[in-house]
Amino acid sequence: MSNTATFTDNRNGKTYEFPIIDGELGPSVVDISNFYTQTGMFTLDKGYTSTAMCKSAITYINGEKGELRHRGYDIAWLAENKVFLDVVHLLLHKKLPSQSELDAFRKKLKTKSFINERMLGLFNAFPDKAHPMAVLQACVATLSAYYSRDMNYDDPHEYMELAERLVAKMPTLAAFYYRHAMGYPLIYPDLDRGFTENFLYMMRSFPHSHVDIRSIEVKALDTVLMLHADHEQNASTTTVRTVASTHSHPYSCISAGIGALWGHAHGGANESVVRQLEAIGSVENVDKYIKKAKDKDDPFRLMGFGHRVYKNYDPRAKVLKGLRDKLVDELDIDSNLIKIANRIEKIALEDEYFVSRNLYPNVDFNSGLILKALNIPTDMFAVMFVIGRAPGWMAQWMELKEQGNMKIVRPRQLYIGPKIGCEENTSKNDIEYSGKQ
Ligand code: ACO
Repeated sequence: MSNTATFTDNRNGKTYEFPIIDGELGPSVVDISNFYTQTGMFTLDKGYTSTAMCKSAITYINGEKGELRHRGYDIAWLAENKVFLDVVHLLLHKKLPSQSELDAFRKKLKTKSFINERMLGLFNAFPDKAHPMAVLQACVATLSAYYSRDMNYDDPHEYMELAERLVAKMPTLAAFYYRHAMGYPLIYPDLDRGFTENFLYMMRSFPHSHVDIRSIEVKALDTVLMLHADHEQNASTTTVRTVASTHSHPYSCISAGIGALWGHAHGGANESVVRQLEAIGSVENVDKYIKKAKDKDDPFRLMGFGHRVYKNYDPRAKVLKGLRDKLVDELDIDSNLIKIANRIEKIALEDEYFVSRNLYPNVDFNSGLILKALNIPTDMFAVMFVIGRAPGWMAQWMELKEQGNMKIVRPRQLYIGPKIGCEENTSKNDIEYSGKQ
């Protein structure tokens, strides 16, 4: 029979058929939703390396070719021809906007970019050295308290409002965190600036002085945000979808996604890249660290290299590499970190260890260096990732809603613990409990 896959249990010779479903692009899937009811067994897939958790029309990745597309549009083309807000519109409204639609969209987001003043008290609750991701996670969870009463977030109009509101407020929350942490006066969003320039303005400005923001800086940051806008079912997006499957408030889902993104194997990697380059210290030390990365007995990993899906050059890293070089030229940056990064990249792209394992630079390798050149504090790098990823998370949340028949995410396990009292012919009275049950 075609378009089915047969599973044979060699213990008893029984066979089972499962439907094969083809997508528009990429590998087909075997639908094993009924695997347990048919076979009485679960499947085991640590890290979900072979499991599709949903059907989605938002983002397509071909990891072998190093290809990334949002709703059909290639990321390199988008980066060359569009701005971050075009991609936000594409993700949320499923189409690229015309110029007038883009202008109207920008205006709409501007009006949503303020936060309720009572939320400012929240920043006082954190210790001085609080990590900004902890603060941002709490801020987004708090937003759910401001937008829950009398809301019907099953209504597409209402949840689109929620999505746009979140995208618009994220830069304000991030900049307010920074201003508060530094003890600087808060700078409110400037409605007449573009989305990305407004963020740099809120970060850098002072009431008494003119702030100089160069167009290459806006372009670089805008591209970083765009390249992070969505990346299909990565750990944080899967977290957002998992929490959404319980019908939690959308902002509580996003807050959970921020928690998942924080880790250094995911969105925290751009911060770790720069910290690692600083620890390496000089070009002369690079060989020593490459040796550590290759040593099986050393847990050291080269941050910004390798990716679960890309087994080729991460297309986002490619775009950012060009931009990084341009930024260095135009701002006349003579950076030791860039020299170290160039040396690492050259070695890794030729070294058998990295080549044979398909370990190419990922998006974080270059985004960290660009953010550093833009004077964004290192511990805020993952926050920049969140600003970029917010529209993708909300698009994924909305897609889950639109598809309906939401099924709570509830994987199973292979139990490997004690089996006291579970053996056949063992009565409870025969068991000597060790104090624990
Ligand atoms: N440095 C050195 N060796 C590495 C690296 C690295 N950065 N990444 C993977 N390897 C090696 C592993 O040791 C393993 O070697 P082995 O086959 O000899 O055991 C092999 O490459 C495969 O590695 P896995 O961990 O199995 O690959 P996986 O797909 O599970 O992990 C990950 C991907 C987590 C991104 C990994 O490459 C890594 O830790 N990279 C560094 C952190 C990083 O840059 N994260 C950002 C990811 S991009 C993003 O989230 C936006």
